[in-house]
Amino acid sequence: MPSEKGSRPPSIAVLISGRGSNLQSIIDATRSGQLNATIAVVISNRSEAPGLARARAAGIEAISLNPRDYANRDLYDRAIVELLHARHVSLICLAGFMRLVGSPLLEAFGNRILNIHPSLLPAFPGLDAQRQALEHGARISGATVHLVTSDLDGGPIVLQSAVPVLDDDTVDTLSARILIEEHRIYPEAIRIVLAGGWSIEGRRFVRSTLVEKPTAR
Ligand code: GAR
Repeated sequence: MPSEKGSRPPSIAVLISGRGSNLQSIIDATRSGQLNATIAVVISNRSEAPGLARARAAGIEAISLNPRDYANRDLYDRAIVELLHARHVSLICLAGFMRLVGSPLLEAFGNRILNIHPSLLPAFPGLDAQRQALEHGARISGATVHLVTSDLDGGPIVLQSAVPVLDDDTVDTLSARILIEEHRIYPEAIRIVLAGGWSIEGRRFVRSTLVEKPTAR
């Protein structure tokens, strides 16, 4: 997956369903040079997703695909695969894409689909992760970027960041604290995955080459 020296930056696709603030953080990282990648296309399953406008404002192709226009989930997923292959996409980034990814996509992009989730997985998978953390009385929550497998929110973890859960937190205040970390770690996780030098061992994402050495304190 890593691009050769002198070649064009790898193309990624971002799949969204709504606001698109993580999409924006990825756009910003490609613009600032933090992330050496081109966003080839943004796809939403909802035509009213505000993230589509963010993509267009940045000059990125933005496509809305309505699942209701397809007879079943496999046909919908295959349509996405076709769009992505036509654009030579090497990595898919799910950013608030609120649909299960089916086998056509998983088979076409094995270990090349990333997702961001607003909890420290494997705690609180599925919907309303921030509400789940509050209801369980968790003292710490956070954000996780992981590779997508058929196991819902259960794929190998690439990066995580923790935040405290405060006594007076609401879903909104906790979500806002977690979102700051999401925006920080998602572009970094994409950079790590695109750089290569990693493997999957069991459930684990293992970096085999130490790209950065920890700084001595
Ligand atoms: C983010 O908090 C993301 O972690 C979450 O949806 C939000 C999308 O926000 N994703 C999930 O819960 C996936 N299970 P955004 O559209 O502003 O990026």
